[in-house]
Amino acid sequence: MRAVRWQGDRLCLLDQRLLPAEERWIECLNAEEVTQAIRDLAVRGAPAIGIAAAWGVVLAAQQGAPLDDVLATLRAARPTAVNLMWALDRMKGRIAAGAQAAALEREAQSIQDEDLAANRHMGELGAALIAPGSGVLTHCNTGSLATAGYGTALGVIRAGVADGRINEVFAGETRPWQQGARLTMYELVRDRIPAHLIADSAAAHLMRSGKVQWVIVGADRIAANGDTANKIGTYQLAIAARHHGVKFMVVAPSSTVDMATPDGEAIEIELRHADELLATGGRRTVVEGARAWNPVFDVTPAELIDAIVTERGVIERPDAMAMRAMFGQ
Ligand code: MRU
Repeated sequence: MRAVRWQGDRLCLLDQRLLPAEERWIECLNAEEVTQAIRDLAVRGAPAIGIAAAWGVVLAAQQGAPLDDVLATLRAARPTAVNLMWALDRMKGRIAAGAQAAALEREAQSIQDEDLAANRHMGELGAALIAPGSGVLTHCNTGSLATAGYGTALGVIRAGVADGRINEVFAGETRPWQQGARLTMYELVRDRIPAHLIADSAAAHLMRSGKVQWVIVGADRIAANGDTANKIGTYQLAIAARHHGVKFMVVAPSSTVDMATPDGEAIEIELRHADELLATGGRRTVVEGARAWNPVFDVTPAELIDAIVTERGVIERPDAMAMRAMFGQ
C-alpha cells in the first residue's frame, strides 16, 4: 500500500481522515494544498509528511513559486516531527546548489525511495531482537500510511510476523485521533496479521497479563541523548512496560534523529485544537462550555527505552554517547 503518490504534476494522498470508512484520494496541485493536507492530517506520520513536503517543493519549483516562502510555510505546517524539517533542508540544499524542477523531482523521489529501503532494513534489525512466539503492543500508526511504505514499528511487526517471532499483535486505539483503531487495524487486517485492538487505558492490564513481551513504537523526533518524542500516550506505555518487565523498542529512520536537539525538554510538542478531544467524528461528545488540553505528542526519556532501531543499526540502552557514536554530532 502506498498513501503518497507522485503523478508528475500533482501529489495524490490517500485521505487518512476518512479511513477506514472511505478510501478517498485527494489531489494537491500546489505547495499550499500540500501544506494544508499536512496541517489537517490528510497525510500524517513523520516520514510521510517529510516526503509530502518534498513533493510540495517540486510543485512550487514547477510553477515558478517563490521557493524561500514555500520552504518556510511547509516547515511551519507541524512542529514536532523533525522529518519534515530534514526533508525540506535536503530540498533547500539542492536549491542552493542551483537545482531546477527536474533535479528537485529526482531528490524528492530519492527521499521517498530511501525511506522505503530504510523501513525494510529496520524491519529485519528490529525483528531479530524479538524471541520467537512473542506478543507485542504498538501505538499510533507507523505503517505504510505513515511512511513511503512497509512502516517503521509496523515494519518490524510485519517482519516479525513473517518469520514467526511475533504471533500476536495488540494495537492501542490512540485517542483522540484514533490512528491505532482506524489506521493500524486497517493495515493489520489487510495483511491478515492476527491482531486485537485495545482501549489505550487497557495497556497496563495487558502487560500484567503476560501477553506482550515488547512495546514497539515509532518516533517523531529522537534527541541527541536518545529521548524520543512520539504520539501522546507513548510515555505512559514506556513507564508501564518498565514496571512489568516488558521491553520497549523505538523504530525510526535516521531522518527522525535530531542531533541538534540535546534532549527531550528541547522538543516542541504540538498542541492541537481542543475540538479534537471534545468531539468525535464531528459530533460534540462533551458538554458545551467544557475546555480541553490537547498535546498530541509526549517525550519518552531514553532510560525507559531498551532499543532504538534505525537503518544504521541498533542502539541498546540509548544514551548521548551511544547516539554520538552512531550519528556523529
Ligand atoms: O499525529 P501523527 O499521526 O502524525 O503522529 C504520528 C506518530 O506519532 C507516529 O508514531 C510517528 O510519526 C512515526 S510514523 C512512522
